[in-house]
Amino acid sequence: MEIPRFRSLLYRSGWLYNAITRRLYNQDTKFLTIALLVGKGPKRVLDLPCGTGYLMRFLHPMIEYEGVDLNHRFLKRIKNKELKLRNIILKKIILHQKNIFDFKYYQGEKKDVIVISDILHHIYPKHFDLINIAKNIAHKIIICEPYTVKPKEISARDKILKVVIYLGKHLPKTLFKMVDFFFLDNDGINSYQKRSQWNYSKQSLKDLYKKMGFNKIYNISDEYIGIWEP
Ligand SMILES: C[S@@+](CC[C@H](N)C(=O)[O-])C[C@H]1O[C@@H](n2cnc3c(N)ncnc32)[C@H](O)[C@@H]1O
Repeated sequence: MEIPRFRSLLYRSGWLYNAITRRLYNQDTKFLTIALLVGKGPKRVLDLPCGTGYLMRFLHPMIEYEGVDLNHRFLKRIKNKELKLRNIILKKIILHQKNIFDFKYYQGEKKDVIVISDILHHIYPKHFDLINIAKNIAHKIIICEPYTVKPKEISARDKILKVVIYLGKHLPKTLFKMVDFFFLDNDGINSYQKRSQWNYSKQSLKDLYKKMGFNKIYNISDEYIGIWEP
């Protein structure tokens, strides 16, 4: 079992993670769109990584869902709260506390769909590796990533958070790194040094999607959803 390093406040509580990301992004529209692109069951869906399991809220009840994440707090929240409070009923739900690169763990029959949401910017520069391995074990891959926008163009839904992010983006680098470490995107797994090199604009992210073979691309807020099918 891998032991993650120190995690920021955001990654210490599934409740807080959902509360903040819902104010930043259009999570419901995003995951509803992904669920529609997954389609109706019966289908085997692998969510890499599953985070707080938000996608499950929108999936068709006949889906067999498998989620993988190293964050034990998020997985615990899914089991103890998310499934019960949201009354989520799927044909099968399996959760693994595993590294998403640990593919030998879920080898076997190919998955109908692998969802890879909001993770490529965390695992940079290994994002190509993850996509390439996923291509070998899936009939369809759906990815979703945010692109970098200028501070004043951030389309965060919550006005206060919008101002906080605007100010944050103007902090000196060393100070921003500290804020990231304690409060923001420090997932305790991937280093700031590598994560901070992910810097795709609206156009260059689209180009990256195409380069990786994702030819159907949809724009939602400051994010792109892309689809790969062989
Ligand atoms: C930004 S969240 C995205 C979660 C979810 N896919 C979503 O869209 O809400 C990133 C998640 O990736 C997980 N993570 C990062 N690197 C990982 C790795 N190598 N193996 C497993 N989980 C990882 C973190 O624990 C965190 O829950």
